[in-house]
Amino acid sequence: MLEATLGNTVAGVLLPSGRSEVPPFMVMDVMTAAERIEAAGGHVIHMEVGQPAAPAPKVAIAAAEAVLRSGRIDYTSALGILSLRQRIARHYRQTYACDVDANRIVVTTGSSGAFILAFLAMFEPGDRVAVTVPGYPPYRHILTALGCEPVPIETTHESRYALTGEALLAAHRKAPLKGVLVASPANPTGTMMSQDALKDLIAAAEQAGIRFISDEIYHGLDYAFPAVTAAELSPHALVINSFSKYFCMTGWRVGWMVVPEPLVRPIERLQQNLSISVPTLSQIAAEAAFDGREEMEAIKHGYQQNRSILIEGLPKAGLTKFLPADGAFYLYADVSDFTSDSFEFAREMLEKANVAATPGVDFDPIHGRAFIRFSYARSAEEMQEAVARIAGWLK
Ligand SMILES: Cc1ncc(COP(=O)(O)O)c(C=O)c1O
Repeated sequence: MLEATLGNTVAGVLLPSGRSEVPPFMVMDVMTAAERIEAAGGHVIHMEVGQPAAPAPKVAIAAAEAVLRSGRIDYTSALGILSLRQRIARHYRQTYACDVDANRIVVTTGSSGAFILAFLAMFEPGDRVAVTVPGYPPYRHILTALGCEPVPIETTHESRYALTGEALLAAHRKAPLKGVLVASPANPTGTMMSQDALKDLIAAAEQAGIRFISDEIYHGLDYAFPAVTAAELSPHALVINSFSKYFCMTGWRVGWMVVPEPLVRPIERLQQNLSISVPTLSQIAAEAAFDGREEMEAIKHGYQQNRSILIEGLPKAGLTKFLPADGAFYLYADVSDFTSDSFEFAREMLEKANVAATPGVDFDPIHGRAFIRFSYARSAEEMQEAVARIAGWLK
């Protein structure tokens, strides 16, 4: 009897929760397939991973080395090191001429850590939160894991693949929304929202009582026109950013939020309990990274060159349809002239041309089978080589 009870308990404990049933990230499967080719001596051009090829700014690495030598690495306050929060506030003044009180800045474990804190502080289980399709998959999966309901809204060519106030309100009329999250520049499309488009969307959301979250992780990597921060447009918007992309610090796991004033203390309490504080070494390096702008601008210039190589080269190679590559380091190409399954297309391109890219199904369960995402965060030579290989393969 006791044995049976124990057996059930153990079996019950070992069963994963329903909320952990989130889909995997398919880009990882592409990476594994690429590794197999490389292990067999092939040379793969990696355009699947959304990660800068360059390391962190030299000043950031030097600051981390210096503090490591000093011996102690202690906890910091849950909201982050004050001088880093003040430096981030200065960044808003310098970059956007926007006054943000340092008390509203919260340092986070990458923007990924920020999503968890923001969703927990803003939403109840069961709340419906709109996200764009195509879009970054973890938005949907984190919301699901936290018991919220992601509501995908399709974007269209007419709005440059950005969510419009009209589309948001149409979804809200069908069933009420509690929040909305958008990114500009966006992943996987690289498309951006104009200042007017962002302003209209925030106004529509606020009038309808829908809480607004802006993922600004690709700010700094804007080529078509300057990116606009939601912090400039509303004190009620929650802004999320990170040192991962512009500052090339993915593995340091440090990001930040600009939080509406009433949410600062709730988020502080959540962070105290969930992680105590963000890794101290990374916070110190991140503060120094702001002095590495010259280095980062040179890297951005490299992305700009890569973008031109792809925009000019891919049509000659046969891929003529892609979305406006306004920012970030992505180009989202429509491959429906070649296939009805972009996963199969990506697999063949990897095997035959040794070019790795990500199938759109990760980002868009509806139309993703027609699209491939290319990441152009590596060298210009590799971009040229990739275009030549694709041209040879598609011939
Ligand atoms: C749109 C977007 N948001 C957030 C993230 C998460 O980045 P991190 O947690 O490194 O800041 C990524 C990573 O690729 C992304 O593409």
